[in-house]
Formats: sequence, structure tokens, C-alpha cells
Amino acid sequence: MDMVLRLAGVSHRFGAVEVLRDVDLDLPAGTVTALVGPDGAGKTTLLRVAAGVLTPAAGRVERPGDAGIGYLAGASSVYPDLTVWENLTFFGRLYGMNGRALAAEAGRLLAWAGLEAFRHRPARHLSGGMRQKLALACALIHRPAVALLDEPTTGVDPVARRELWALLDQLAAGGMAVLVATPYMDEAGRCRRVALLHRGRLLAAGSPEELRARVPCRVLLLQAEGRRQELLRLARELPGVQDARPAGEGVRVALPVGAPDPTLPPGVRAVPAEVELEDVYVWLAGELAGKEPAGKEEARA
Ligand SMILES: Nc1ncnc2c1ncn2[C@@H]1O[C@H](COP(=O)(O)OP(=O)(O)O)[C@@H](O)[C@H]1O
Ligand SMILES: [Mg+2]
Repeated sequence: MDMVLRLAGVSHRFGAVEVLRDVDLDLPAGTVTALVGPDGAGKTTLLRVAAGVLTPAAGRVERPGDAGIGYLAGASSVYPDLTVWENLTFFGRLYGMNGRALAAEAGRLLAWAGLEAFRHRPARHLSGGMRQKLALACALIHRPAVALLDEPTTGVDPVARRELWALLDQLAAGGMAVLVATPYMDEAGRCRRVALLHRGRLLAAGSPEELRARVPCRVLLLQAEGRRQELLRLARELPGVQDARPAGEGVRVALPVGAPDPTLPPGVRAVPAEVELEDVYVWLAGELAGKEPAGKEEARA
């Protein structure tokens, strides 16, 4: 797979705060990469560096083919008083497009995003999901090879969220390199590639399967009728438990692969569960901290 954009040893700080540290990340063509991490992890800063709107304190951004970049900043970046069509053509003109070529591309994106029926509607009268689709279309008007999208699905209803992800898959199928920041692990899990960002450091990048295989942990789901709070406390004190967090009516605990099953009090049962991306995140964050379970609070992503 061709690599169209690469961050090499990127570090950045705002004043005394280190926001990115030594981040290496490749973006291959034809792939959606989810950049996952909780609020404050540094996702927006990483995207801004990749987009070239922020110069990092150290490291480089490489674009071997001089790939064009589409950047969608977090909060909806369309103009509320302009119509759908006016927004698209406005962004096109910013990129030096005009005339028939611009109209053709705007028309194509309008159809692609399912916004044809709303062509003349001011953006402020669109639903949140439609506004995000319009913002996405505007960011792509100049046919970039790379799309850098900052939380396009945050605050969007579940149906529109699925539609947005389907649009991103289509972009990748067309050969684009897509990097999409999200605080939601469940959304990330459906991407071909996931990059886990924790306190400005890239914990790992790879397919969800690769990431799950990378951590030497196994997960048990503890259950005890109607005693979840108590269960959580108990779980955190069990020997060998690296992380414990609520899940449905039970509590998930992660243990090192070779560790024996913990001895449980009467009424509590343990069922083996699949390792999830969030378990991987918490585990790797814990390894990074070089001690016990780091980030019980932070890994709420
Ligand atoms: N312009 C800025 N000035 C100072 N601190 C900033 C600035 N932008 C971000 N930060 C800080 O950098 C850290 C990472 O922020 P950000 O990149 O926005 O993370 P995320 O997008 O993952 O929430 C946070 O602690 C944030 O407060
Ligand atoms: Mg952000």
C-alpha cells in the first residue's frame, strides 16, 4: 500500500505542556485509520500538524507524492448562512476551482453525500448529521489524496454516524488515505487500522486484530446479581487484576495471560470474554506508565 503521508518523530508542546511526544505514524492510501484517544490525548494537535496548519516543535511531516490534504476541523466548519451549494462552491473557489469543473465536482459531492434535496437550504437549517456531511464534502472539494477529519461523528445521531462512516469507507475504497479522530473505541473497532493515542504518545497502530493480539492479557466478565458497585471495588482488589471497569451489568477485569483465575467470593461468577480495543488501550497505557493500571479514569474513550 502506498504511503501518502507520514509523521516522523513528531513532538509538540504548548508552553510547559507536552502534547505530542515522538509520534511516528504512516497513512497508507486506500485505508481508514482511526485515531483514538480520550479528550486531551492530543488528537486535534496531531491532525493540525499533519494538515500543516501547526509546525511541530520537533519531527517532520512527509508527503512523498506531495499529496493534497483535506482537513475537517472539529466543530462544524461550514458557513451557517450560506446554502449547501454555496458552501461547496465557496470552498471550491478557495482552492482555485471555478466554472464547469467546480460545478461538476460540487454536484458529484452533493450526490455522494446524499444532500441533493437540500441544495438550496442554508446550512444552519440542516440537522447536525447533514451539516457534518456537508462539511466533509467541502473538505474534499479539491479531490485531496489525504483526508484528516477531526471527530466528524461527535454529536451526530447514530443513524447519521453510520452513514458518515460508510462515506469514509467509500473514500478509502477510492484510494484515499483517511485519518479520522474519534474518542469512541467502538467506532474505531470497525476501521481497518487503529492508532491509539495516550497523553500525546502513540501506544500502537495496527488492525484491531493485530492490536488485540499484541497485549498479553485475557479478560473475565465478573457477574453478581445487583451488586455492581460492590463488584467493582472487589474486582480492583483481586490479585493480578490490571484493570477493572463496568460493562453492562457486570465488571470486566484484565489479567496477565498466564495468571490463574482469581478466587471469587460466593455469588460472584467469572465468564471469559473477548479482549476489546479498550482493554488493549488500558493495558498499553499501563505498560507505558510502567506500573499498575494506568488510566482507569482516562480510558473512558
Ligand atoms: N492552543 C493551545 N494552547 C495550549 N494548550 C493547548 C492548545 N491546544 C491544545 N492544548 C492542550 O493540549 C492537549 C491536547 O489537546 P488536543 O490536541 O486538543 O487533544 P484532543 O483533540 O485529543 O482532545 C490538551 O491538554 C489541551 O488542553
Ligand atoms: Mg480534539
